[in-house]
Amino acid sequence: MTVQQKTKKARTDTAEATASAPVNIAVIKYWGKRSEALMLPTNSSLSLTLDQDQLQSKTSVRVIADSESEDARLWLNGKEEKITGRVRNLVATMRKLRADLEAKDSSLPSLANKALHMASINNFPTAAGLASSASGLACLAVAIDAALQLNLPRPQVSALARLGSGSACRSLFGGFVAWDMGSKPDGSDSVARQVASETHWPEMCALILVASATQKEMPSTAGMQTTVETSPLLQHRISAVVPERMQSIEKAIQARDFDSFAEITMRDSNQFHAVCLDTFPPIFYLNHVSHRVISLITKYNEVKSKENGRKYTVAYTFDAGPNAVLYLLKDDVAEVLRLVNAFFPHNVAAGAASDEYYGMAKQFVHAP
Ligand code: DP6
Repeated sequence: MTVQQKTKKARTDTAEATASAPVNIAVIKYWGKRSEALMLPTNSSLSLTLDQDQLQSKTSVRVIADSESEDARLWLNGKEEKITGRVRNLVATMRKLRADLEAKDSSLPSLANKALHMASINNFPTAAGLASSASGLACLAVAIDAALQLNLPRPQVSALARLGSGSACRSLFGGFVAWDMGSKPDGSDSVARQVASETHWPEMCALILVASATQKEMPSTAGMQTTVETSPLLQHRISAVVPERMQSIEKAIQARDFDSFAEITMRDSNQFHAVCLDTFPPIFYLNHVSHRVISLITKYNEVKSKENGRKYTVAYTFDAGPNAVLYLLKDDVAEVLRLVNAFFPHNVAAGAASDEYYGMAKQFVHAP
């Protein structure tokens, strides 16, 4: 189980729950919505859920028993934030589910219309641009489910997390996770599903290289909206590329075929950033350090291939920012770490405020 939760039920109407959820990094990228209201994507996607101990968000939710209003408040890393329309929608949807339960059973404590306090922290720097919305919204949905004593099945909590942030629906599951785009207008078949568990390919590791710790200029939500409106390449990607890639990468994962997995991963990252360039005005997420990482990995794969006969030893992928995530097998981690540290010697811990540094953040081993 990936997502952990702890619930405290008091005799009164107060309820409190804490949940944690891990980050996931996509190898087939989600980019574009066909419905903003229902948070439905224009293509299916697939990600790996990273080791929870290394990268996680933790959220506590408290229902205030003696409150007279339905106030909802949110603290992120200790600072109170304005609640976005999406989080408001998530809270309203989950309260409605609770209200339906209370209407059916009058012995249940009244929680649906009480104030809700939510506090979330990340154990990694939010500013480093490491997929914090996926883990954050995933554990928010789990914690509200527990605090409101809904006990919903995991797929339903995943669908609710999607209302907060699309990629969050994948963080509810461990291992290799697909988010099928679905075709029904109500979105009921747009769901995340586990393709293979965290123990299926125990040699698989991820390394995160921080190329910049400053927050991205163009948030994903706004960026993908402009892409959907302006990029002809996105239409080609949606119809002619991703469906085949989803099938091929699932097959590669099932067969633990690293060469195929790596090539599809790198091609998909490249196409995602090509789509960003094809957006008008263009979106630049990669920087000069990212380009150097791509060149280095390409060259390294060529050299290693002569030595070990494998086509690829390392795969790179980049989300909506310049930081690289490298997927590789456990036996190759030590050498690749040495290589990265030799080429990018400023080994500064993630979290520095400058845009000028690069270095290894940490080693994230995906499975025990
Ligand atoms: C590049 O899930 O952050 O990381 O649904 O608008 O909240 P919203 O976007 P978000 O987008 C993630 C985009 C990505 C690719 C991916 O994770 O699949």
